Amino acid sequence: MEIAIKTENLTYFYDAGQEETEIPDVLDRVSLEIEKGTFVAILGHNGSGKSTLAKHMNALLLPRGGTVTAFGMDTKDEALTLEIRRRVGMVFQNPDNQIVSNVVEEDVAFAPENLGVPSDEIRRRVDEALKTVGMYEFREHAPHLLSGGQKQRVAIAGVLAMDPECIVFDEPTAMLDPSGRADVMGIIHKLRYERGTTVVLITHHMEEAALADRVVVMSDGHIVMDGTPKEIFVRVEELDELGLTVPETTRLLFELNRAGVELPLDALSVEECAKVLAERFAS
Ligand SMILES: Nc1ncnc2c1ncn2[C@@H]1O[C@H](COP(=O)(O)OP(=O)(O)O)[C@@H](O)[C@H]1O
Ligand SMILES: [Mg+2]
Repeated sequence: MEIAIKTENLTYFYDAGQEETEIPDVLDRVSLEIEKGTFVAILGHNGSGKSTLAKHMNALLLPRGGTVTAFGMDTKDEALTLEIRRRVGMVFQNPDNQIVSNVVEEDVAFAPENLGVPSDEIRRRVDEALKTVGMYEFREHAPHLLSGGQKQRVAIAGVLAMDPECIVFDEPTAMLDPSGRADVMGIIHKLRYERGTTVVLITHHMEEAALADRVVVMSDGHIVMDGTPKEIFVRVEELDELGLTVPETTRLLFELNRAGVELPLDALSVEECAKVLAERFAS
């Protein structure tokens, strides 16, 4: 088992400014290992520390306490920063903040150009990245005229052009409509299953987290749950207490159980849920 990202007792707090008040740690001794090639979803209420944790994964933030390694490289070693950022890409919520050029293909070429990648290799990577996200036909378009979902796909292509082994997505679908969300989730699925890219997805959409190999739940700077989607989502009441929802399928099964109809809570996909309901109610 090879580890892509490892945090050991990671502790972090933001500068408090002038005030002398005791500031609580935003991350408090977080230890997490993300296996290479897996798709891990991170859930947690607003302010629980998800984005702060994500930014440690490619050295955008450095630990105040503990260590973070990306593919064995210590993020505190400045000599490794560029290599870490190349191998661990980041996609954020707002595509407008990630697009830097006036032409789609130039935008996607931006990072590899800065890395000094030879121009024929850049051409190949840009075309491949744009095809992967389904935006090749838009390569000569102006990004600002695209829809939010299309812009986010261009932003993802820009990260793919660096040829990363791991991509951390921080609420990439939060500003998108359902069709844009589905496109981004389709790309994540393709990266995970066709390329073996390690995927970390921070999301508020439980249906997205249900597709992951593993779900990590954060609360107040701690990891409070860690398991497969089926293991996590059956803990409906605990998740409610943490201010989190569960997928609609789980909620339906949970309410049926409360109404006295005994059904397994871990029929997570719509297909599984339909099957257990059909079996239960077949006359
Ligand atoms: N740049 C910042 N400066 C000061 N405090 C911050 C900054 N970014 C986040 N915080 C605080 O750190 C805590 C965790 O934030 P964040 O990691 O963004 O959580 P999440 O992504 O789970 O919503 C919150 O209390 C937030 O207010
Ligand atoms: Mg956040």
